[in-house]
Amino acid sequence: MAEATQNIDALMAEERRYPPDPEFAAQANTPADFYDQDPDTFWEREGRERISWFKPFDTLKQWDRPYAKWYLGGKLNVCYNCVDRHVENGQGDKVAYHWEGEPADDRLDITYADLQSRVVRAANGFKQLGIGKGTKVCVYMGMIPEAPVTLLALARLGAPFTFVFGGFSADSLGGRIVDMGCEYLITQDAANRRGTASALKPIADEAMSKSPNLKSCLVVRRTGTEIDMTEGRDQWWHDVVDGQSDDASSCPCEEMDSEDMFFLMYSSGTTGKPKGIVHTTAGYLTGVSTTHHYVFDIKPETVYWCAADIGWITGHSYIVFGPLCNATTSVMYEGLPDFPDKDRWWEIIERYKVNVLYTAPTSIRTHMKWGAEYAERHDLSSLKVLGSVGEPINPEAWVWYRDTIGGGKTPVVDTWWQTETGMIMVTPTPGLTTLKPGSATQPFPGVMAAAYDEQGKAIPAGSGAGYMVIKEPWPAMFRGLYNDDDRFRETYWSRFPDAYLAGDGARVDEDGDFWLMGRIDDVMNVSGHRLSTIEVESALVDHPDVAQAAVVSRSDPTTGQAIVAYVTLRGDQQGSPEKLIELRDHVGKVIGPIAKPANIVFADTLPMTRSGKIMRRLLKDVAENRALGDTTTLADPAVVQEIKARADAEASKED
Ligand code: PRX
Repeated sequence: MAEATQNIDALMAEERRYPPDPEFAAQANTPADFYDQDPDTFWEREGRERISWFKPFDTLKQWDRPYAKWYLGGKLNVCYNCVDRHVENGQGDKVAYHWEGEPADDRLDITYADLQSRVVRAANGFKQLGIGKGTKVCVYMGMIPEAPVTLLALARLGAPFTFVFGGFSADSLGGRIVDMGCEYLITQDAANRRGTASALKPIADEAMSKSPNLKSCLVVRRTGTEIDMTEGRDQWWHDVVDGQSDDASSCPCEEMDSEDMFFLMYSSGTTGKPKGIVHTTAGYLTGVSTTHHYVFDIKPETVYWCAADIGWITGHSYIVFGPLCNATTSVMYEGLPDFPDKDRWWEIIERYKVNVLYTAPTSIRTHMKWGAEYAERHDLSSLKVLGSVGEPINPEAWVWYRDTIGGGKTPVVDTWWQTETGMIMVTPTPGLTTLKPGSATQPFPGVMAAAYDEQGKAIPAGSGAGYMVIKEPWPAMFRGLYNDDDRFRETYWSRFPDAYLAGDGARVDEDGDFWLMGRIDDVMNVSGHRLSTIEVESALVDHPDVAQAAVVSRSDPTTGQAIVAYVTLRGDQQGSPEKLIELRDHVGKVIGPIAKPANIVFADTLPMTRSGKIMRRLLKDVAENRALGDTTTLADPAVVQEIKARADAEASKED
C-alpha cells in the first residue's frame, strides 16, 4: 500500500474544483435531495418505475451474506424492457443505434422497430437450432449490429450467455466455453481492424476443437474472408436467420424470474484461471438503467456514445442493456480510433451530434499524445457530459478531456466500478457534484462504500488510505462465481467478514469524496483491461524454453500500467531479441494480444526468498526504476542487482 499512498498524496494535492454549472443543474435528472434518499425507498421506486414487469416483485431484497437477491418474486424479460415495450409505446421510429462500421461510409441507423425485427428473426433462428430457455451460449464477436441483436435475442429466449471479447485467444475462448458448459457458439468470419480483416472464426475453430459439449456454431459474414465451415456443426447466420419471421408474436419474450442467471462475464483474478462472474436478471437491469439515467443525465433526445467494446462489462452495461432499457439513442462504432485518421472519433461526434461520450483514461491519454489538432478539426459543441471508466484518471488527462474535448464546459464524470459490481458505484452526478480531477467523488445512492483499515474499521474522512469495501448489497451486485463458492468467499469475503472487498485501495477526503488508488492485489490494469500477473506467468512458462517467469506491472504514461516479465530460460539458453518476440507472441496466443508484456528481462535466476517465493516486490522496484527495497530476506541478494543491471542496460538501448 505504501507505494500507492505516495501517488495518492500527489494526486490529492490537486486543488482545482468544478462546481456544477447552474444552467446544467437546473435541467438535471437528479433532484436536489438525490443523496439524502433512503436507499431502499430509492431502489424500490426505480425497480417499479424503470422496469416493465410481467409480474411485479413482492420483496425488495434478501441479504444472506455474501449472497444477495433483489426484486424477489418478480417476473420480467430484459429484451421486452430493452426493445418491445419501446415499440409498443410508439418509439419504434426512434434510433436505437447509429451504427458506424470501420470502412468509410459503412453506416446503418437501426430504429427500435428495426431492432425488434432483427432480434425476433435472430431469436427464431436460434430456436430452430435448438436454443431455448436455459441453453448456455457463448458469443465471440466484434462491434457489429449482430452483437447486441444476439444478446437481446438470447435474453428474449431466456438463454444465459457469456460474451467473449474478440481479442481473446483460442485458449481463453475455449476455457470459457468449457467452464460455462456452452452448447452453442455465435461468432463472425473476421472483424475489421484498422483496414484489415482480423480473423475470428479460425480462433473459434481451435477453441471448438477442445470443447466437447459444443453442438453448433453460427457465423455472421462480416468481411467476406475465406473461412472453413465444418459440415454438420457450422452454419451461416444469413442462412438460419434471414428467412425467419420478424413478427414479435412469433417469438414471445420468455417470462424470467428476477434472480434467473442472465450472463457470465469472465474476469481475471489473482490466480491463473479467470472467474465466471454471475449476473442475474432484474437487479442487474435496474442497476444499469438507473445509473445510466442519472450519471449521464440522459434525456429522451440524448445521443449517447460509450466507446467501449461489448466484450467487456462496460459494453454490456452501458452500450447494450442500460441505454436500451432507457430507450436511448446510442452510437456504436466498429473500428479503431485512428482509422483512417486520428480524428475518426471527433468526426463521429460531429456527425451524430453526440451529447455524452464515455471512454477510458487510456484512450484520453492516447488522444492527448496525438494532439489537440484532431479534435479541433471538428465541431464538438454538442457534448454535454463526458465520462471516464476503467482506471484512475490523472488530473492532467481529466482537465484535457474537459477543456479540449468538452470546450471547457462539460462536467467529467469519473465512474468507479467493476465487472463484479455490474453497475457504476462511485461517481459524480453532473448536476449536483462539485468535481475534483482525479476523484470519483461520491457513492451512488444506496451504495455503502468505505475505506477500511487493516482491522476492518472505516477510516475517518480525511485521514489515510485503506481498502475499498462495500458494506451493503446493491441491485446489480454479482451473485457469486460460477460453480465456485469457495473462491467467491475466499476472494471477496475473507479479508473482512462484514464487507465486500473490491481489491482497490482508496482514500476518503475531508469532504467524503473517494480517491481510488488502483489494485492492491496481483491484478494489473493495462489500458483499462484486467489481467492477473499469475495468468501471464502461466502463459510464459507454458512455452517450452521458459523455466521460470515473474510478472509485475510498471506505470506507463499511456496505458496506465504496462506488463514487465522476468524470465529464466531452460538449460543454458540465452535471451535474444528473437526470443523476446517469440515469447511475447506466445503470450498473445495463449491469452490474447492485450496480455503481451511490454518488456521482457532475461535473467539467470529470479530473486527468491529463503522459503522459495519469488520476490515480486523487488522486481517491481526494478520495473519502476526505483531504489531497491529491503533485500534482507533474499536467498541471494546479488541476483536482484544483476537483474537491475540487465534491465538498465535494456532501457538504455531503448533510449
Ligand atoms: O481497479 C479498478 C479499476 O478497474 C477495476 C475493475 O476492472 P473491470 O472489472 O475490468 O471493470 C472495468 C470497467 C468497470 C477496478 O477494481 N477501475 C475501474 N474504474 C475505475 C477504476 N479505478 C479508478 N477509477 C475508476 N473510475
